[in-house]
Amino acid sequence: MKDSLIIALDFPNKGQVLNFLEAFESEQLFVKVGMELFYSEGPSIIEALKKQNHKIFLDLKLHDIPNTVKRAMKVLASFGCDLVNVHAAGGSEMMTAALEGLDAGTPSGLKRPDCIAVTQLTSTSEAQAKSEQFITGSLQESVLNYAELAKRSGLDGVVCSPLEAGMIHHRLGSEFHTVTPGIRPLESEMQDQKRTATPAFAREQGISAIVVGRPITHAANPLESYLKIKNDWKGVRL
Ligand code: C5P
Repeated sequence: MKDSLIIALDFPNKGQVLNFLEAFESEQLFVKVGMELFYSEGPSIIEALKKQNHKIFLDLKLHDIPNTVKRAMKVLASFGCDLVNVHAAGGSEMMTAALEGLDAGTPSGLKRPDCIAVTQLTSTSEAQAKSEQFITGSLQESVLNYAELAKRSGLDGVVCSPLEAGMIHHRLGSEFHTVTPGIRPLESEMQDQKRTATPAFAREQGISAIVVGRPITHAANPLESYLKIKNDWKGVRL
């Protein structure tokens, strides 16, 4: 996962995904399949992406009782994905169960998918965390608390905002992965993302992987945009 640029395939169906990927014929990509695409196409979308040799982050953010998550993860691991996730709010028992499910479902000879936790959704504001979740400390403390819980539970990292990743690495070390959406190249529109950062900033923060959607999927030339963001992320000067 280290140093990956993950493209968020936020498309409604397989046809649009395959159409988009035509421009990337010679590139081996790391792609993210979210709820919309997975719920509309099912496991066949994973199969189609694997056939093209792309790495896959299946972003379904599981959050349920430990036994249910364990059984669901066993199924997800059988698809041969590279990365999956849960909500840290499900608790340490649920996160441990997720790992057990992944171990049980990983086909022999393959590595189990990495598993990361969502801490606080970046759409949650400080005021909301206080009034709706009764969080007494700051939102940052809550994010750190969840990240520590995820690490103690054996998870490989967290999904977080690029602005939180530095403090997470400072507290939990550079080996604990941070995966961050909300990445925007300098010249790009923000769309609905509020707290954004550039790929270069992400690199400076020691972030493990960045997730980029619309700056690539909605670009006039997606391949060109992808390569430009990748160079910025890897610190390549042209
Ligand atoms: O198009 P954009 O680059 O904003 O896409 C970001 C992707 O990351 C989307 O798939 C979005 O659902 C996801 N995401 C996010 N913020 C989070 C968690 C996931 O933007 N906190």
